[in-house]
Amino acid sequence: MRHIKSRLAGKFDDEIRFIKGMISQPKTVGAIMPTSTRMANRMASIIDTGSGLPVLELGPGTGVITKAILARGVTPENLVSIEYSTSFVQHLRGKYPGVNFINGNAFDLKESLKDFQDQKFDCVISGIPLLNFPMHQRVSLIENLLDLMPAGRPIVQFSYSPMSPVIARPDIYKIEHFDFIVRNIPPAQIWHYKKVHG
Ligand SMILES: C[S@@+](CC[C@H](N)C(=O)[O-])C[C@H]1O[C@@H](n2cnc3c(N)ncnc32)[C@H](O)[C@@H]1O
Repeated sequence: MRHIKSRLAGKFDDEIRFIKGMISQPKTVGAIMPTSTRMANRMASIIDTGSGLPVLELGPGTGVITKAILARGVTPENLVSIEYSTSFVQHLRGKYPGVNFINGNAFDLKESLKDFQDQKFDCVISGIPLLNFPMHQRVSLIENLLDLMPAGRPIVQFSYSPMSPVIARPDIYKIEHFDFIVRNIPPAQIWHYKKVHG
């Protein structure tokens, strides 16, 4: 009985950690449950493992998408992941050794990526709750991220809104709807943002 209890506790450990994070910082965490494995795998499916470039993850939370990125074949050293919450970062460092977790702000890329100056990334996979930030910050985040990638490579972002969480700037980037994931709480859309000009 004690064995079953401890297995169940382990299984729901991340959910409990996530809900605690949500209660203490609702606007920053911006979701009621961790991302589903189905959505994490769909987001990670876009990685070009042959590019040799590292992947940049934003807002890993409890690490569901981190796990999917690693399962796709990215080595821990080739994953850079920026998370705002110190307690999530402490947990992630123990769970995924070797991944470059940065306890920082994704909206301040200059500071957060100061140890990765001039580094290009294969793609960006983001769980940041964009809807909780002003539109001008969302747009400049997309524009700054696109400068970190080769032309044509995407920023992958999920959102609970039926519309893209970032307005169109057809002269700078194009927006593509990638998928609608019903098996997520709540169901979510996946969007791609790609640079228009090289
Ligand atoms: C919707 S949750 C991500 C859920 C995650 N995929 C999971 O399953 O645990 C959003 C995450 O983004 C982080 N976050 C929010 N604003 C951030 C920022 N400006 N920079 C970095 N991380 C941020 C939050 O702390 C939270 O961990």
